[in-house]
Amino acid sequence: MSIAASPRARGVSQRADVEPFLAMDVLREAHARAAVGADICHLEVGQPAAPPPRAVLDAARAALDGNGLGYTESTGLPALRERIARHYADIYGVEVSPQRVIITPGSSGGFVLAFLALFEAGEHVALTRPGYPAYRNILKALGLSVGWIETDLADRASPTAQDIASLHASHPLAGLLLASPGNPTGTVIAPDHLSEIAAEARRLGLWLISDEIYHGLTYGAATDTALNHDADAIIINSFSKYYCMTGWRIGWMVVPEYMARTFERLAQNLFICAPAISQIAAIAAFDATEELEVNKAVYARNRDILLGRLPAMGIDRFYPADGAFYIYADIARFSNDSRGFAARLLSEASVAATPGPDFDPVAGDRFLRLSFAGSTETVERALDRLATFLRS
Ligand SMILES: Cc1ncc(COP(=O)(O)O)c(C=O)c1O
Repeated sequence: MSIAASPRARGVSQRADVEPFLAMDVLREAHARAAVGADICHLEVGQPAAPPPRAVLDAARAALDGNGLGYTESTGLPALRERIARHYADIYGVEVSPQRVIITPGSSGGFVLAFLALFEAGEHVALTRPGYPAYRNILKALGLSVGWIETDLADRASPTAQDIASLHASHPLAGLLLASPGNPTGTVIAPDHLSEIAAEARRLGLWLISDEIYHGLTYGAATDTALNHDADAIIINSFSKYYCMTGWRIGWMVVPEYMARTFERLAQNLFICAPAISQIAAIAAFDATEELEVNKAVYARNRDILLGRLPAMGIDRFYPADGAFYIYADIARFSNDSRGFAARLLSEASVAATPGPDFDPVAGDRFLRLSFAGSTETVERALDRLATFLRS
């Protein structure tokens, strides 16, 4: 016997009414097409085609054969927290005690912890537009509001101190979230500019949250951790991108020592801990630089190919792709409806790409994001198909 569902009239909560993550919607549609035989070129998700480093896989295999995989401390395995603390000394020359490192289920888990730990419901957090969609959608789900800072190609997708001060004057802010290199633009905020922004955030009394998930993936531009510019900055990072561990759901935060216990209590109650097997394996990722740099060389080549071939097809306005693995391209010459454009590109040319409204609910309709985290062969085939599609 089955009981018929009868939805309650009051429906779902208003805060659950978040927008879809369009890149994931396109991925679902692309998988559905592949399941019935389509040969899809995936340029929609920011997911490395390469597997995690060999040492990571070996550590995971050994962990499976070991003594079970129970809960870990909610802040993460001490050995992983220590290794991450050492990474900050090695790469950025900044002292971080392991007690300040919190291991999270992907950086996505870090945003939930940070927004809950730092802000009261109803407060405004400044985000730049275009930006990663989950920021605004998680804020909404947690009853927080977004204060938008509009950026464009000319200002390299970076806010100025003046932008922040003006927004704060009209919509008092509690925090500012920055991403460098950013998604979808790939643009890097230069260290001296980061210093100015951090100083302004401090002057205005705002928390600075720095999403550093694309660190390690730059093509000549210098990046620095926000910790070198604001000792109280909240750092969010992940093993998903440079370390090629998307599905392992593991990331980390660095938080001020005086807040570590707050983050621990939230983590205990919200997720208990990040997956134990991923934590054990991630320790090995920091010593796999040689292998990971080979992957990065593939992204660099893919980037050169895209930047070389797109202009000849009439796509010649994009943000400076200093890092990450995306081109955020203006397609206004072809369409002012990038959702429709992406849908046709998928159905007619079997190329999956992400429409701009994912990243910019106001001006995104004339942009398309192309990910070059896949193989060079995928990128080249996608470009051949795109050229034919644009001519038709
Ligand atoms: C800027 C940015 N931050 C965070 C994430 C979330 O990554 P994860 O939860 O896999 O660490 C992504 C994923 O694409 C991203 O692009």
